[in-house]
Amino acid sequence: MEVLSVASEVYPLIKTGGLADVAGALPAALATHGVTMRTLVPGYPTVMSKMTGGRVVMELDDLFGAPAKLIAGRVDGLDVIVINAPQLYDRPGNPYVSPDGWDWPDNWKRFAALGWVAAELGVGMVDGYRPQVIHAHDWQAGLAPAYIKFSPNADVKTVMTVHNMAFKGFFGGEIFGQLRLPPHAFGVGGVEYYGGVSYLKSGMECADYVTTVSPNYADEIRTPAFGMGLEGLLNGRADTVVGILNGIDTAAWNPATDPTLVQNFTVNTIHTRRVNKRAVVEKFGLDGADGPLFCVVSRLTDQKGMDLLLQAADGLVDLGGRLAVLGSGEPYLEDGFRHLTVKHPGKVALITGYNEALSHLMQGGCDAILIPSRFEPCGLTQLYGLRYGCVPVVSRIGGLADTVIDANPAAIAAEVATGVVFDPDSVHMLYEAIRKTVRLYSDEKLWKKIQRRGMKSDVSWDTSATRYAELYATLTGLKTNDHPDD
Ligand code: ADP
Ligand code: GLC
Repeated sequence: MEVLSVASEVYPLIKTGGLADVAGALPAALATHGVTMRTLVPGYPTVMSKMTGGRVVMELDDLFGAPAKLIAGRVDGLDVIVINAPQLYDRPGNPYVSPDGWDWPDNWKRFAALGWVAAELGVGMVDGYRPQVIHAHDWQAGLAPAYIKFSPNADVKTVMTVHNMAFKGFFGGEIFGQLRLPPHAFGVGGVEYYGGVSYLKSGMECADYVTTVSPNYADEIRTPAFGMGLEGLLNGRADTVVGILNGIDTAAWNPATDPTLVQNFTVNTIHTRRVNKRAVVEKFGLDGADGPLFCVVSRLTDQKGMDLLLQAADGLVDLGGRLAVLGSGEPYLEDGFRHLTVKHPGKVALITGYNEALSHLMQGGCDAILIPSRFEPCGLTQLYGLRYGCVPVVSRIGGLADTVIDANPAAIAAEVATGVVFDPDSVHMLYEAIRKTVRLYSDEKLWKKIQRRGMKSDVSWDTSATRYAELYATLTGLKTNDHPDD
């Protein structure tokens, strides 16, 4: 089975968040199920710089206004097809915004091109390549299912995975005329959304199947509180919407072999994590106190509840905790954490920017990771935390609720607790969760048990890759390795 994954980010080529991790890990996870997954990705500068050995498989005279080439190759263990379109993608900054933080004004065009090229590949425009399924991720790829739906000669099946309902890829209706779609595509059954065009809605409307990244989020987004205006659409097609939990790449995230750790460790040598803790403390310029070291590795945004943490941080310090924050995002939140570092020198520290290696070291050295999200489609940092003995302290929401078991008395007695789970969206509940964590930490034996249990929990792709493979098989009627007797 050939599946074309369409994603605006794929680790290790380009990453700003969890989408890249998922798009990067799925191909290897699916390979053992008889699924060959190739990834279509825009040719941003960092991607192009790695595409040294690729071969041109298609030349386009006019990809939304300028020529482009599709380059296929294998890079960093991934089979990719890269859209080399310098006028669209050869820019500084991250994939979506300019260096001064503003969305690129032609993002509609940059990601229409991504969806359009996906559909060209889906209808067999490259000799010798014809995927049976196009698997589109998030709004940037959302037009791919629409181009397929409105193409007269397409029999390729489509899956739309929603990683985040908050980003709808919404543009004014005036762009429609340039999207190369037939006029009737501008309607409820197509790309139209409140008089404009939403790429996410397009994908969710037009794909054969919609998936999201945890079962709990799949339920939540059918309600007005989390559906963000798309709950009606989802309820209308409830039998083709499914939540499949994200896993993590357990080879890249393995505390026993991770080269970015100062000290590797296993569930049996967990006490040696303290070497990493010391390294984190030094790196962040924190003091050498005894209490628990909390961390944050996150986009600093309202989604992640970082404003709540700003307000709970004095309490965290008063309880004897320290806090190391790695992240960047909303300026008011960055400023807020900066202010806290001045108020609590040695107790709170911030490193802004993106640092993959440091994120690993923090998971391998900090005692607990704080994730007070208001909504969280899945969340990956709690999974990394579990794997690395960094106890997740999470709000009871989305995928966080699906993956962490709260250390309440019953769970402790039943020996199943893996973290702390609290009701979302209030400073008070977050503070109480921090207080509970400090209390648990002070019971060294119990704390180690919670850490070890987390490290042993299954955060791999095994189960979920099977579910994706089954979904592709259902859609196409083709067999995968999961159906040996069919
Ligand atoms: P989201 O995709 O909503 O940002 P996830 O928890 O799914 O949240 O994934 C975030 C990913 O980005 C994780 O791999 C996390 O380690 C990583 N990450 C977030 N911020 C940083 C940062 N500043 N430096 C390094 N890695 C980061
Ligand atoms: C999104 C979500 C996050 C999820 C990630 C990967 O960015 O915010 O919860 O883990 O996608 O699916």
